[in-house]
Amino acid sequence: MDDNLELIEKEMLDDISSFLEHVEPERSSLIPVLQKIQAKYSYLSSDAIKLIGKRLDLTSSEVYGVATFYNQFRFNPPGKHRIKVCMGTACHVKGGDIILENFERKLNIKTGETTRDREFSIDKVACIGCCALAPAVVVDEKIHGYVAPSKVEGIMLGFEIEKEMNERKERSSTENSDGEIIERQ
Ligand code: FES
Repeated sequence: MDDNLELIEKEMLDDISSFLEHVEPERSSLIPVLQKIQAKYSYLSSDAIKLIGKRLDLTSSEVYGVATFYNQFRFNPPGKHRIKVCMGTACHVKGGDIILENFERKLNIKTGETTRDREFSIDKVACIGCCALAPAVVVDEKIHGYVAPSKVEGIMLGFEIEKEMNERKERSSTENSDGEIIERQ
């Protein structure tokens, strides 16, 4: 994990610890606590689960067991770009699982996971309400319909091009002696 991500994780755990100090240390607090942390950070890290267990006098396996019972909880940080593949009936019938596999293979992660650089995460979702476009995928809140494997390639290629353009832009920037960033024309 790079230093920046480590720092973010540390700040998150400090914040969760302070929050837990105000929580009644009883089992009935578990679900609301899980929901609050998930709502704020979009996932429950293994260290967060340990902290929750400690405060509520539960083992990590007990906390994890309850959290996994509900599919509203994630256990990996969401990627900067979130890919949600619809697995509702219409999309499933039209090959949603093949599209899911294509994203998994392309990013080398499984559903529910996040790439090591935290750029991408993949999730399955229930019907997103546009069955006529099946199979459908939501990428960063944008709906893509009639997704075929070639379209998966296209979506990922779009990100690669965007990344390359940003890197080029960064390379063409330089700092002056006052530490100000100067854009080259
Ligand atoms: S089943 Fe996928 S949009 Fe409805």
